[in-house]
Amino acid sequence: MDNDILKVLYSQNEIKEACERLGKQIQKEYEGKTPVVIGVLKGAVFFMADIVRAADTYMQMDFIDVSSYHGGTKSSGEVELVTDITLDAAGRDVLIIEDIVDTGQTLKFLMDTFANRGANSIKVCTLLDKPAGRLVEANSDFIGFEVPNEFVVGYGLDYDEKYRNLPYIGVLKPKIYSHN
Ligand code: PRP
Ligand code: MN
Ligand code: MG
Repeated sequence: MDNDILKVLYSQNEIKEACERLGKQIQKEYEGKTPVVIGVLKGAVFFMADIVRAADTYMQMDFIDVSSYHGGTKSSGEVELVTDITLDAAGRDVLIIEDIVDTGQTLKFLMDTFANRGANSIKVCTLLDKPAGRLVEANSDFIGFEVPNEFVVGYGLDYDEKYRNLPYIGVLKPKIYSHN
């Protein structure tokens, strides 16, 4: 897999440090509360696992599966709810955990969804924010890194469902997806 990577953007160690920093911010934010922390499948799995263990605070964990990329490099614009959370978000402090916010469509869909369900508060923690990709307004409260407008993979982020298990985040060589 390493051969398919043009350059490493964030090393394993840089990601670890970002998780620790964000985890402490979340710990402080939710002191005395028990938020429902919702990981967005599949991209956020590793980030979710690392961030919750960096925050020494009570929380309940859940997962939601939404999809808009269907494995490609461009968002379809239509966000589909594949599998819902099992906890009730009404009246709860919801913290959404994302790997990346690009066009903002996924995040907007999620924020609207939990607002409609009557969440008490909705905050967002994303490892990567790509402001240059934004098509709809969607802001995060806790951000690991601001990324350039390149297609990134690894640490949960996929191309064609692959590369999620790279331990770092990198830019894919254009030749990998240019034949599509
Ligand atoms: C990716 C990524 C975010 C979303 C961001 O998920 O993990 O959830 O797209 O893009 P947006 O801001 O343009 O909406 P994807 O739909 O590819 O599903 P996945 O997490 O299973 O890869
Ligand atoms: Mn995702
Ligand atoms: Mg994807």
